[in-house]
Amino acid sequence: MKKKNFLFSVFAIASIAFYTIAFSGCKGKDGEIGPAGTNGTNGTNGTDANAVTAADQSAYDAANGVNGAQIYDHPLNYISANQTDYPNAYTNFYRCKSCHGWDLLGRNGVLINKTPTATYPVAAELNLYAWAKTHNIRQIFDAIKNTGGRTKSTQTSYNGTMPDYGTILSDAQIWDAVKFLKETAHNVNEFYDLSTSGVYPTGTKTFSEIGKGGDGAAGLVTYNAKCKGCHGADGTQINVYCNGIYLGDMFRGDPHEIQHKAIWGMPTDREHIDSGCADADAMPSQSITDQDIRNMMVMGQDTVAFPGF
Ligand code: HEC
Ligand code: HEC
Repeated sequence: MKKKNFLFSVFAIASIAFYTIAFSGCKGKDGEIGPAGTNGTNGTNGTDANAVTAADQSAYDAANGVNGAQIYDHPLNYISANQTDYPNAYTNFYRCKSCHGWDLLGRNGVLINKTPTATYPVAAELNLYAWAKTHNIRQIFDAIKNTGGRTKSTQTSYNGTMPDYGTILSDAQIWDAVKFLKETAHNVNEFYDLSTSGVYPTGTKTFSEIGKGGDGAAGLVTYNAKCKGCHGADGTQINVYCNGIYLGDMFRGDPHEIQHKAIWGMPTDREHIDSGCADADAMPSQSITDQDIRNMMVMGQDTVAFPGF
């Protein structure tokens, strides 16, 4: 066993122990207790799927990749899921981005330094961006609509197992997610470079070349036309997490999240509404181009024009 695998095993065992202790008191109404969330078929899909049918193709053609982007961000908020089955404290265990990353690269991308906790899942291993490019739409659909993963809070424990979205999303919403993965999602390398060292979850990451080849002056023109009205001239109008993040902070520190939200928006932030946060409205998707994002990313490196919190 390689040393890093060994260390990871130690970590995994420690995590399981932690979840056992943390959730042993959580008995659902159907009597199931954590930690052993049953495994879905996720991870084994793609080899057994059948060919794409005409019905699959037309469902895919009718699907909306921008809706899919918002589903990828927060499926529960997108469908206004109820809090009894999906309590706010555990919604991260249902967000595609929590396990797969805003960059779709899983634990080898921006999540490399994201330590799992009682309220944050273990990151997935695979490169979902590459996987979606090399699998057909039926295979992707089946992988999302798998059976057996976590459904509701009362049924299985909170861990890194992919939820059973077949019980959460409609088929049409799953097709939206498929379209997002297959053709809407960005190749983040076109927006910045990420260099990493070490291994998940204790690795480190550094962004460089944020806004690759962008033009900051052109970015400001777009910003003033499309964003300023809501976010203010200097990006401080909406304190995005209600706990101290201005757009300037995000342009510099979260380019992986900006490349997603600046163009596709985000669903209403239920957790923020419930915590009394004033900035929790949905952000509509924006009619801007990838180049507009790069331009604004360059613009946003200016700490005087776009201050941090
Ligand atoms: C709690 C963590 C978690 C969440 C949330 C999650 N996934 Fe996954 N996903 C996984 C894991 C684990 C795998 C198995 C492969 C791996 O370990 O990298 C996987 C696999 C996949 C695969 C198939 C890859 C294969 O090898 O079969 C697709 C497609 C996928 N996820 C899409 C999504 C989408 C879309 C969402 C949100 C609607 C989502 N995932 C949410 C953890 C998660
Ligand atoms: C109609 C108003 C509106 C417009 C126009 C708008 N936004 Fe937003 N934006 C919001 C709101 C409201 C939020 C906070 C959403 C939340 O936290 O629930 C937000 C949040 C964001 C976030 C981060 C969200 C988070 O909580 O992480 C980014 C990044 C962002 N906007 C970028 C942009 C950019 C870039 C533009 C211009 C292309 C833009 N927005 C245009 C209203 C708007």
